[in-house]
Amino acid sequence: MQVAPLTKSIGAEIRGVSLAEAARNDNVFGAIRDALLKHKVLFLRKQDISRADHVAFARRFGELEDHPVAGSDPEHPGLVRIYKDLDSPKEHYENAWHCDATWRQAPPMGCVLRCIETPEVGGDTIWSNMVMAYTDLPDTVKEDIEGLWASHSIQSTFGAAMPETRRKALKDQYPDAEHPVVRTHPETGEKALFVNSFTTHFINYHTPARVRFGQDFAPAAANLLTYLQGRAAIPEYQVRWRWEPNSVAIWDNRCTQHYAVQDYWPAVRKMERAGIIGDRPF
Ligand code: SIN
Repeated sequence: MQVAPLTKSIGAEIRGVSLAEAARNDNVFGAIRDALLKHKVLFLRKQDISRADHVAFARRFGELEDHPVAGSDPEHPGLVRIYKDLDSPKEHYENAWHCDATWRQAPPMGCVLRCIETPEVGGDTIWSNMVMAYTDLPDTVKEDIEGLWASHSIQSTFGAAMPETRRKALKDQYPDAEHPVVRTHPETGEKALFVNSFTTHFINYHTPARVRFGQDFAPAAANLLTYLQGRAAIPEYQVRWRWEPNSVAIWDNRCTQHYAVQDYWPAVRKMERAGIIGDRPF
């Protein structure tokens, strides 16, 4: 197995491996897992594997979960379909910087995404290294955000365009999640910035030290959150991947964000994603 880094910051291409084999072979799977912890997102080409193999490989990392809004393959629970075609021209979900499903109390630890059909041009995905996004912060900002918590909402994102009753039912099922603004990676110990487009506001910003006059916490908190959310968009922290059918990306959702570029409509783009259940961030 060869591991070829794609940038100095994030991402490596893995060659000489079939994920169908990795699903069955402890050594190959272990080598992929180690490479994932090091590079944060891995890419493979020519993975003409079955859906069952896709699921079996992802299951090596842990249990899979479905998505309450995006549907799954009926024969392969846990394999979420991200299909963009003429029936979904106005959908905007993946083209915002995000960690997957941080509106869950325990967001996914990672995902395995396989390309089924890709437009002739466009439809790339970009990943960003949120450990770098944290490490490079000015010390004053690091001090300001230490111990800060933020709220993450499915209702304000996937639910926003739904009729009120459906939106509220979604929120009842998935109440807003509170996560630390800086999380510690449970395996590497690295600190990562953990706010993204599912994050709506800080929970514990409004302290006497920060608030001088009445409501002045509100713009200050909003500016700080916007600044932190913008860190994922810094090109030096990123890798960009051009898809082909049977290309696969495996990412660590605990220390990265991603953005699927929607620059291809009305062409069709079809992806299938296995999301692996994660831990509560700390
Ligand atoms: C996702 O946002 O999880 C999917 C990314 C993609 O479709 O490239």
